[in-house]
Amino acid sequence: MEVKFEPKIVAFVCNWCTYTGADLAGTSRLKQQPNARLIRVPCTGRIDPVFIIKAFENGADGVLVSGCHPGDCHYNAGNFHARRRWIFFKSLLDFVGIDSSRLFFSWVSASEGKKWVDVINNVIDTVREKGPFNAYKKFNRENYKSDAELVSASKEDSKINSE
Ligand code: FES
Repeated sequence: MEVKFEPKIVAFVCNWCTYTGADLAGTSRLKQQPNARLIRVPCTGRIDPVFIIKAFENGADGVLVSGCHPGDCHYNAGNFHARRRWIFFKSLLDFVGIDSSRLFFSWVSASEGKKWVDVINNVIDTVREKGPFNAYKKFNRENYKSDAELVSASKEDSKINSE
């Protein structure tokens, strides 16, 4: 019997808008797929790019960053800083071997429970179509007993990529 792939999505959401919008979707009993794990941060401007790399390293098949609409950030310009950072960061992701098309951005306000459901379902469906993302998981140090084992896996990976 074939096991159907179910993607794991990590969603970094700002406390003031998207988290509240997602909460509204829940209290309004809007149906959404259960594949996402939400991580609440004070503002999207607080998200360090390393958080995203760590999410992929620890098993995420896709990552969503979502916060207040432009002009609505509770810290004035946090989401503008975040947006500028992500434009640059997306190209860096490709450079380190992470498929940047698995990273999604959206603006969802506290009153947009329906929009949240549409956004998260769309992300889940898109990643489900892409399939599992295993390329980066192998760099999680916890999967290896020693540095030598990690280096050996990396060499194996370079060999596969150069073929
Ligand atoms: Fe929501 Fe800044 S407080 S993005």
